Amino acid sequence: MAIYLDNGATSYPKPESVCSAVTDYMRNNGASPGRGNYERARDADTLVYRTRKLLCKLLGAKRPGQIIFTSNATESLNLALKGYLKPEDSVLTTSYEHNAMWRPLKKMEDERNIKIRQIPCAPDGRADIASLHEYLRGVTLVAVSHGSNVTGCVTPLDEITAAAHKQNIPVLTDAAQTAGVYPIDVTGVPIDMLAFTGHKGLMGPTGTGGLYIREGMELGTLKEGGTGGMSSSPYPPSEPPDRYEAGTMNICGLAGLHAALTFIIDAGVDDIREHEINLTKLLLEGLDTIPRLKYYGPSSAEDRLGLVSFNIEGHDPNKVALTLDSDYGIMVRSGLHCAPQAHRLLGTEHIGAVRVSLGYFNQKEDVDLLIDAVRHIAA
Ligand SMILES: Cc1ncc(COP(=O)(O)O)c(C=O)c1O
Repeated sequence: MAIYLDNGATSYPKPESVCSAVTDYMRNNGASPGRGNYERARDADTLVYRTRKLLCKLLGAKRPGQIIFTSNATESLNLALKGYLKPEDSVLTTSYEHNAMWRPLKKMEDERNIKIRQIPCAPDGRADIASLHEYLRGVTLVAVSHGSNVTGCVTPLDEITAAAHKQNIPVLTDAAQTAGVYPIDVTGVPIDMLAFTGHKGLMGPTGTGGLYIREGMELGTLKEGGTGGMSSSPYPPSEPPDRYEAGTMNICGLAGLHAALTFIIDAGVDDIREHEINLTKLLLEGLDTIPRLKYYGPSSAEDRLGLVSFNIEGHDPNKVALTLDSDYGIMVRSGLHCAPQAHRLLGTEHIGAVRVSLGYFNQKEDVDLLIDAVRHIAA
């Protein structure tokens, strides 16, 4: 029996309704949204609109036009950063960002001379926001991950946005690890831009994602091309979402995302979160009983996401992950998890770690089997 514990990379399995929505769209519709005036193309338009509306419901956004579809969180972050930042601007970020945030920032440091500042973090990966106001001086944009894919820490967005907005600084957050599994309300905690990916906690197909943009936020475009309307103009439309969505959409993927969002809203994000907290508690308690094992990040399940990275003294994490797969049929991810910054913070940049990431379909038995397997390997 195979056990999938790599939901931080992408969630698996997907709800059955997601798989059928994708194939149903391919078989029975097949038209491109915004590209025809026949019934099926109009149905495709409606599907895209409804998917935006479900995202508004899930994220607390007011208008469907504020949701821009992209192919993943990486593209969303590139759009937000490259569309917003001007030469010489200053960005405040954390020291546990994924390369999806870090690499575009480094590129703009080289090409646009932007200045990067980092909020100091405690050794367990928690952002130290006590001195935040000092770091905000002269900053143009705060760009922070909502939840780390290595430490599992959740960034206190409420405190960060309150401090940033006091100085009229907009906040971009990377919700790749939190959307769908952690409550988000972009109006209640006023976020200016929120990047999400459709295939992790949102349980949709790969190749889907998006960027929420607060009304009034204007960005330069990342790509230009056909948008299905206003075709006689040499320039992209001025209004979102069309302005940022040049090219034929991943409509089959969005059909799946629509079904996934319906599934999540029915299940309830609070209940999904509670399920993950319960499993994470078991996981942490089990890992705690294994000699010479060290896990990273907060020790309370309530303070973290349902993913835990760990190392066993004297064991190469890559070998541990390989053995879990080959001898126990358990799939986890080892290495640097595309987040060398976070590993530097933990002091694991040279070896990486083993990461276990739970999902909605995991059960207590999966955690029990993992703990037994890790105990054997460690012994
Ligand atoms: C924190 C974080 N940000 C961004 C990403 C990038 O997501 P995607 O590969 O879907 O663009 C990931 C994916 O691992 C992530 O964990």
